[in-house]
Amino acid sequence: MQELQTILDDALKSFAAINDAVELENAKARYLGKEGSLTGLLKGLGKLSAEERPAAGGRINQVKQQIEAALHARRESIQQNALQAKLAAESLDVTLPGRNSSAGGLHPVTRTLERIETLFHSIGYDVAEGPEIENDFYNFTALNIPEDHPARAMHDTFYIDDQHVLRTHTSPIQIRYMQAHMEKYKHLDAMPDIRIIAPGRVYRVDSDATHSPMFHQVEGLWVGERVSFADLKGVIADFLQNYFETKDMQVRFRPSFFPFTEPSAEMDMSWKGGWLEIGGCGMVHPNVLKHVGIDSEKYIGFAFGMGVERLAMLRYGVNDLRLFFENDVQFLKQFN
Ligand code: DAH
Repeated sequence: MQELQTILDDALKSFAAINDAVELENAKARYLGKEGSLTGLLKGLGKLSAEERPAAGGRINQVKQQIEAALHARRESIQQNALQAKLAAESLDVTLPGRNSSAGGLHPVTRTLERIETLFHSIGYDVAEGPEIENDFYNFTALNIPEDHPARAMHDTFYIDDQHVLRTHTSPIQIRYMQAHMEKYKHLDAMPDIRIIAPGRVYRVDSDATHSPMFHQVEGLWVGERVSFADLKGVIADFLQNYFETKDMQVRFRPSFFPFTEPSAEMDMSWKGGWLEIGGCGMVHPNVLKHVGIDSEKYIGFAFGMGVERLAMLRYGVNDLRLFFENDVQFLKQFN
């Protein structure tokens, strides 16, 4: 029976080529199913004579068993393959490198403050601090700011209550420091020099690309027996040259007005062929010294105040101040 051999070969070949359980069952139906080729042969046995039938039936059954055995073996191996594939897919690769938590970094404004502090420290300045909620006396009155000064108006300043404001500048730290200094050295005939910078947050009702309602200033103060405007110019020029790491830097002082200094000036630095304002300064007004009990006949001093964000923007090439306060990690990352 040539046909029987063909069916067997065909079945073994097609089972071997199949890798999927459902496909295998479909293939089985082609040989052993109701309409299957082997079933067809079995049905045909009835047409044979009684003598031929047993031998033919025996051969067909033999092939049927061979096909069933092949089917069974293939089922097993497909199941095994599926299991292996599942294990491989769900396995844990313990050789993969771990996930590190990334290190944080300092905010560009903090970096700028640290740089300013380091530079002033190197020429003998201490760093002083004061509260961000100030009272009227320290923020205004002691600084010789008159009752009708615009800075005292509600539309420029955040008031906590009648007496307290979010400090509008770092200048009140001058007052606090001078008071403490006087108290500390009252037993001495001569007061040691005061030489401080005072960095910190300040607040104003103001917001656009170059103004934020919260920003940073750094205040400077040097009070002694012989402090001159020339010292002021020298300290500022020296600081800016060091801060921007260039000797090729001009500093200009424009006459101006601040209630707490006399004379007063606006400080500009040369930048890209023009001038850029970076803060105010002047010789400490005698009324300010009087408020803290320093003899203005004997002592004299200079003070200055600079915008920290302005210095950070120039050094890092940032053109919108608001970027500093949006907490966008992509932006902040660049400075570390
Ligand atoms: N306090 C001033 C401001 O916020 C800045 C300033 C000007 C500070 C002159 C000073 C100074 O110490 O002498 O606009």
